[in-house]
Amino acid sequence: MNNQSLASFANEHKKLLEEQLRKAIKDIEAPTIMKEAMLYSLEAGGKRIRPLLLFATLHAFGQASQKGLNTAAAIEMLHTYSLIHDDLPSMDNDDLRRGKPTSHKVFGEAFAILAGNALLTYSFQLIAATPEQFASSHIKLELIIEFAKAAGAEGMVGGQAADLEGEGKALTKEELEYIHVHKTGKLLIYSVLAGALLAGADKATIDKLTRYAYHLGLAFQIRDDILDLEGSEELIGKPIGSDMNNQKSTYPSLLTMEGAKQELAGHIHKAKLALKETILYTSLLQDIADLVADRNH
Ligand code: IPE
Ligand code: IPE
Ligand code: MG
Ligand code: MG
Ligand code: MG
Repeated sequence: MNNQSLASFANEHKKLLEEQLRKAIKDIEAPTIMKEAMLYSLEAGGKRIRPLLLFATLHAFGQASQKGLNTAAAIEMLHTYSLIHDDLPSMDNDDLRRGKPTSHKVFGEAFAILAGNALLTYSFQLIAATPEQFASSHIKLELIIEFAKAAGAEGMVGGQAADLEGEGKALTKEELEYIHVHKTGKLLIYSVLAGALLAGADKATIDKLTRYAYHLGLAFQIRDDILDLEGSEELIGKPIGSDMNNQKSTYPSLLTMEGAKQELAGHIHKAKLALKETILYTSLLQDIADLVADRNH
């Protein structure tokens, strides 16, 4: 188990997660259109990097993946809601997501909004439903509080608001960093934090892992900005040039492409340094940092 490569670990856990997602949606009592719209976006693909981070964190503590299954599915649901809403005409107005037409293109805007709302709400229910043998009520409460912070106005939603407000403006590097840390970083940080909380980590270890995930999150969104300019639409499964169309400030627009790549490398380096300060078995988390640095989708 300890020498397992990231690729085989990721494949195995992707299957586990996707099974859990399908099961969760199947169990929901709701109008068929609602379940169809939820499942459509969940099953459209996606790298499942957030669940992978949670599972790799549990692995770093030598803990079973089963413990994190509900929370991992919850994070992927909430992330998928954020994508559905991010693509709406009133936000980034994009037609392609995960290689398929966006939710509002298939189901119409109203059902896309509702599918997002349903995924968001259900995600909290899923964490709360974690079997007692995997997490005590106290841990579950902590998981839920931190999830709300990471997802809401203090986290992803706050970042999305600042992102929209920043359209057409020349932002400073600090302002852009705020956007990236919040709209994208917070949920990645939470994925690692959730693994650590489930594993019963101490405060000092949590701080180091949070520092890892902070830099990883920034790197992840810088790479997303880069791919928006020089990626392949077929590989990334979303439209190229969306940021330019929406007059967003991005790392390449602010620092040049070369500068953005240097910044990305700097954050990957810092992420790895933070891991080295722990006494955990972090090879998968290290490999995830390399994956984020080089990803082409
Ligand atoms: C896309 O996230 C939105 C960002 C926060 C950059 P991902 O790149 O993880 O998208 P999927 O889940 O693989 O589709
Ligand atoms: C969105 O950032 C982050 C979210 C919270 C969804 P982007 O708008 O750059 O994400 P993509 O490029 O559409 O996936
Ligand atoms: Mg956006
Ligand atoms: Mg977008
Ligand atoms: Mg983008």
